[in-house]
Amino acid sequence: MEKNKPSYSEARKRTKEEVKVITDAYIMDNDLSKLGIGKTYHIITYGCQANVRDSETIKAILEDMSFTETSDMEKADLILLNTCAIRENAHNKVFGMIGRVQHMKEKRPDIILAIGGCMAQEVSIVNELERKKKYVDVVFGTHNIHNLPKLISEAIDKNEQVVEVFSKEGDIIENLPVKRDSMYKAFVNIMYGCDKFCTYCIVPFTRGKQRSRRKEDILKEIDDLIKLGYKEVTLLGQNVNAYGKDLNENITMAELLEEVAKTGIERIRFVTSHPWDFNDNMIDVIAKYPNVMPYIHLPVQSGSNRILKLMGRRYTKESYLELFYKIKDKVKNATITTDIIVGFPGETEEDFEETLEVVNECKYDGAYTFIYSPRENTPAASMEDNVPLEEKEKRLARLNELINKYYKESNEKVVNTVVPVLIEGVSEKNEEMCAGYTDTMKLVNVKCSKDYIGKIVNVKITEAKTWSLDGVLDE
Ligand code: 5AD
Ligand code: SF4
Repeated sequence: MEKNKPSYSEARKRTKEEVKVITDAYIMDNDLSKLGIGKTYHIITYGCQANVRDSETIKAILEDMSFTETSDMEKADLILLNTCAIRENAHNKVFGMIGRVQHMKEKRPDIILAIGGCMAQEVSIVNELERKKKYVDVVFGTHNIHNLPKLISEAIDKNEQVVEVFSKEGDIIENLPVKRDSMYKAFVNIMYGCDKFCTYCIVPFTRGKQRSRRKEDILKEIDDLIKLGYKEVTLLGQNVNAYGKDLNENITMAELLEEVAKTGIERIRFVTSHPWDFNDNMIDVIAKYPNVMPYIHLPVQSGSNRILKLMGRRYTKESYLELFYKIKDKVKNATITTDIIVGFPGETEEDFEETLEVVNECKYDGAYTFIYSPRENTPAASMEDNVPLEEKEKRLARLNELINKYYKESNEKVVNTVVPVLIEGVSEKNEEMCAGYTDTMKLVNVKCSKDYIGKIVNVKITEAKTWSLDGVLDE
């Protein structure tokens, strides 16, 4: 049954209309709450932290419907894929997984397959999923997670595909349940959507208009987390530094961050920062409050002003570097990581070398690097691209070599120092050890008793491994 399909012209709209905060959208009636009795669900999450956080809500909703979680997809009665649209390879992974479930459904046709998240906001994907209606039962988007119980129940009752995707500018839905993955650290949404429209990026279409949550709702969520014993919050948004610009209340990200710091929660992080909106007040707050972690993810994307302009990034290499040095100067021990895209349409060898120069100058503590991937309906997708894929791959390899060198140097610098680590659980690589992250977001495996899980402890770093650090308690 078709309800609503995505539309790019709707998704592109940005009006001055006030964003509605809806507190009663989630309805769980008696019938819906019994639908999953005796049944299991398995959820696979692709993409960024926003999706991870959405999946925590989806899990809670499914459990409100009496489904129980299983880690074994082969046994699940309901399989839900929370998808990402940022690059082509995220797409491919999802279609590979749909193929696997399709195969499972040949033996167990009652399995319910639901596809949600950013890919479901894409017009061509929804058309493709509709052609798979024998296998894909529910298609829902990023704006209507709260309707999931109704959509699943309709798909079961009517035994036909249900598609509901909205491409509206978006409301803010409060009071959704959550089943958090960790008992110690939590993601807290502070804003949804994005209005920056970088020319390569699909997010403004898949996640809608920038909508900041009300300060009181954010602070209440954090107060509740503190009461539950949480040690760390990560404030989430596609562009957190623009927080508040869409609210009538006249509040900035720096002011919000300061209020969050004053709640006393032990650790605060925030992602992602766009350099454009990162102002001096923000740097001052990070420097002033010890519970604001000195870890900043500051995507540069390219070191060439020509490419930055084509990307619609609204800063130059020079202004980026000025901001970078201001942060390094004022925030003690600041760790700065970045995102870089290589092979943007028309990127020349000279443009690329300018990116390498910026990396050499900033000596990033870490970076996520990507080959440009054209996204349907974005402006960059129709720019002429004369750089062969082979050349892009070579550039990525050259870039990664440099990034890895500085990453290693950054890790080696902390060897023999004592750093605070929030111990989160047993180490994945060695059951005898625990693992956690430093204030500067470095993964550490620590020789310590499991009694330390959930605590922030001082750790002496003994060795830098390729992707992590080893350490011992420093008591
Ligand atoms: N192609 C490649 N990388 C992209 N990113 C966003 N859109 C694209 C795209 N079309 C990268 C950016 C962003 C990160 C989350 O993903 O570097 O910061
Ligand atoms: Fe992927 Fe962007 Fe959607 Fe996150 S918001 S899941 S990165 S497309």
